[in-house]
Amino acid sequence: MELMMRNMFQSLGKSRTANRLAKRYGLRFGAARFVAGETIQQSIEAVRGLNQDGRIATLDHLGEFVFSEAEAVESADMCIQTLDAIAQAGVTSNLSLKMTSLGLDISRELCVSNMRRILDRARMHGNFVRIDMEDYAHCQVSLDIYRELRKDYDNVGIVIQAYLFRTMQDIDDLHELGANLRLVKGAYKESPQVAFPEKSAVDDNYKKIIQKHLLNGHYTAIASHDEAIINFTKHFVKANGISGDQFEFQMLYGICEDLQKQLVKEGYRVRIYVPYGVDWFGYFMRRLAERPANVWFVLKNMFK
Ligand code: FDA
Repeated sequence: MELMMRNMFQSLGKSRTANRLAKRYGLRFGAARFVAGETIQQSIEAVRGLNQDGRIATLDHLGEFVFSEAEAVESADMCIQTLDAIAQAGVTSNLSLKMTSLGLDISRELCVSNMRRILDRARMHGNFVRIDMEDYAHCQVSLDIYRELRKDYDNVGIVIQAYLFRTMQDIDDLHELGANLRLVKGAYKESPQVAFPEKSAVDDNYKKIIQKHLLNGHYTAIASHDEAIINFTKHFVKANGISGDQFEFQMLYGICEDLQKQLVKEGYRVRIYVPYGVDWFGYFMRRLAERPANVWFVLKNMFK
């Protein structure tokens, strides 16, 4: 049953019709628990709220299904406006983005040119940009573009997913770049040809890559709500004398708030991923797929 619901939410998230309908009707079905709003201003206010109790942020302007050059350029413009708004408001947040929203599926050149515009603006503001990792089909090209960008920018990082078989090799390959990585379990439905199907194998691999990247001496964002992974990291950094400046915990907006605040109280750096924008549906479906128990929020909110 759980697997069926997971698959259903993952498919719905990819449906263009469902995304288009959702866009038209605005934040619904309890999505506001996971999405900070539809406008930049709403997202900045959400970040301000987080900053007040010591949580820092990464803002993501949601954009899925970009099929024309004009849409990709517009999406890059929104990223630039987000960076400007962060600087203007004086809140503590960097930017996360998805390269498909910058035209990756149209042409690599278009995507790279949009990335360069964004990174130039981020550099001007002394800010940092994180490239989210999407499904397996985009993994190699995303890493290739990251490598290309790293030649000219040191304010860019990427995400590595523990569920992929290739991941340990990627961590080794990224060592020479001194890559700033966000490590996650992985959110997409992948084939057992390329990804561990069992949770326990994903968790084991996750621990291995956390250890490896930290011991390689590079900045590591551990992006998980899994208390076992968080506790593992706490013990590991302590046992190995790894400084609090070399890592941070990251969690998603609206998920495990108490844990977020607890970690701040314990003195850890905690960054919250704050998505916003009219294109919220795909993101919302991925959160439901991760935890079908969230569906009761949807049901409750349908009748509000
Ligand atoms: P796990 O799924 O084992 O969950 C542990 C516990 O966390 C659950 O028992 C529950 O209590 C809570 N929890 C987890 N998900 C929840 C949800 N949706 N609703 C309510 N509670 C929930 N993935 C990717 O492929 N590419 C990316 O770029 C990113 N980026 C990213 C950034 C940040 C800041 C985070 C936190 C996560 C991502 N992810 C991601 C998503 C990631 O791959 C993964 O799908 C989720 O974080 C869920 O996995 P956990 O590590 O939290 O563990």
